[in-house]
Order: sequence, then C-alpha cells, then structure tokens
Amino acid sequence: MVASSLQLRDVGKSFPAPDQPLTYRTVLETISISLEAGELVSLVGPSGCGKSTLLRLIAGLDFPDSGELLVDEEPISGPSAERGLVFQDPNLFPWLTVRRNIEAGLAARGVLQQKRSEVKEFMRLVGLEAFADAYPHHLSGGMAQRVALARALINHPKVLLLDEPLGALDAFTRMRMQDEVLRLWQNRRTTMLLVTHDIDEAIYMSDRIIILTQRPGTIEQIIPIALDRPRDRSSSDFLSLRSEILELLHFAGNRSSQVTA
Ligand SMILES: Nc1ncnc2c1ncn2[C@@H]1O[C@H](COP(=O)(O)OP(=O)(O)OP(=O)(O)O)[C@@H](O)[C@H]1O
Ligand SMILES: [Mg+2]
Repeated sequence: MVASSLQLRDVGKSFPAPDQPLTYRTVLETISISLEAGELVSLVGPSGCGKSTLLRLIAGLDFPDSGELLVDEEPISGPSAERGLVFQDPNLFPWLTVRRNIEAGLAARGVLQQKRSEVKEFMRLVGLEAFADAYPHHLSGGMAQRVALARALINHPKVLLLDEPLGALDAFTRMRMQDEVLRLWQNRRTTMLLVTHDIDEAIYMSDRIIILTQRPGTIEQIIPIALDRPRDRSSSDFLSLRSEILELLHFAGNRSSQVTA
C-alpha cells in the first residue's frame, strides 16, 4: 500500500450557532498541519474544539470556509475510499454477518467481485477469521471495532482517519487494540490521524501529538514523540513526557480536566 501525505493550510470552519441560527460561530481557525506519508499523528484537544469537524473536512464529508486541504498535493473535493474514517461507534449493520459488513463498502462501490479474495485476508489481519459468519451482537466491543477497522482498511486507504476509535473500550481491551492498530499501521504503512482524549494512548501510538486549543480550535503545540517502538508505558522517558504534556494542558487553563479523561 502506498501512503499519502496530507496538508492542511490555514483551514477555517464556522457553523451557525445552535441558539442563534443567523450567527456563525468559528469552530476551527487557521489550522495548518502537514503529515508525511506513513506518519501516525494524534490530535488532542478539549471537547468541542473541532477535532471531528477537522476529520470530516479531511474525509471530504464537509467543506472548509477558508484554506486548503491537500492529499499528495491534490485538493480534497469530496469523499473518497482512499480516505477511510473510523468512529468511536463501530456502526456495523446489525443484520449482516462480519464478512458481509466488511464486504459492504466494496459491494456499494461495485468492486466486490474483484476484491472478494481480499475479504478473507483482512479478516485474518484483524483476527476475526473464525467469526466470519457471526452477527455484530455476538461480538465484544473490541471485536466489533476490529470489524470497523477491517472495513476501512479493505479500501486500502492512503489516509486513515480515526475519531476516538477505542474510546468506548475498557482499559485492558483498549491497550490490546492500540497494539493491533500499531501492527496494522506498521504492516500497511498508511498515514494515520488519530483523535484521542487519552494522553497515554497518544504518546504510546504517535510520531507526533498535535494539541488544539479550546474552540475555536487552533494549534496550541506540536510535540514530537521520539521514543523507540514498541514503547514501554512505564519507562521514565514515557512518564516524563506524560507529565510534560499534562503540565502543558494544565497551564493551558481548565482544558486539562476534559483532555485527560
Ligand atoms: N454540522 C454542524 N452544525 C452546527 N454545528 C456543528 C456541526 N458540527 C459540529 N458543530 C459544532 O462545532 C463544534 C465542534 O464540534 P466537533 O464535533 O468537531 O468537536 P470535537 O472536538 O470533536 O469534540 P468531542 O471531543 O466532544 O468529540 C461544536 O460546538 C459543535 O456543536
Ligand atoms: Mg469529536
């Protein structure tokens, strides 16, 4: 798989205020971010600062008011299977088996016949081969989220956008899934942008962490994580980075309470 670079230049977005529909409220302001092909970057910031909005703009599901979004220097003009989006809720079709859920996007795009052999490969990749014929209500939260990941990965996205994909999982499953996502990232080398509220997850996973301010979201700081992989969550380097970031969020005002959940 060939990954893509991603560039956001001075991206701004506003929405009508819910209480005053004629007034527009700025949600994102002059966001400039550059991701190298194959990079894994986390986006951390207070609730409502525009993280999901930013992912939706990159996914091409919405459009910015100002600025440019480019994938490999090409402007983003709408949704594309090359940019996969995975949400906190796996959003599986409850009436379809695991296999059919993974196939659904391919079927919708009319490419299922050519790609059918890959379905098995992706089920194996996320460790769900034995559950091909199971229905979503038979799956644990972690398994359902792996189906959602396989469904996004089968399109060979050059950019994978993850919006708190592990947010609903218990702490133990979440750590295991972090390793799964890292394994998938290392195997496929897709460019990943991960929204998370969990600082440990951001440090454990990312090449860089982008911290956004309260709404209107602007970039507060970009922190490179130079620790070797696999990372040790209890190493002194990890822990000092953790306290550095928490301190930064603390000094950034009352945001810390929302960001460290
Ligand atoms: N389609 C929309 N119409 C109007 N307002 C919107 C729309 N989408 C988002 N907003 C507003 O934009 C702001 C940012 O929302 P967004 O969902 O991007 O935040 P977030 O950073 O993802 O928050 P959280 O961490 O809680 O998921 C919120 O105030 C939200 O109400
Ligand atoms: Mg969100």
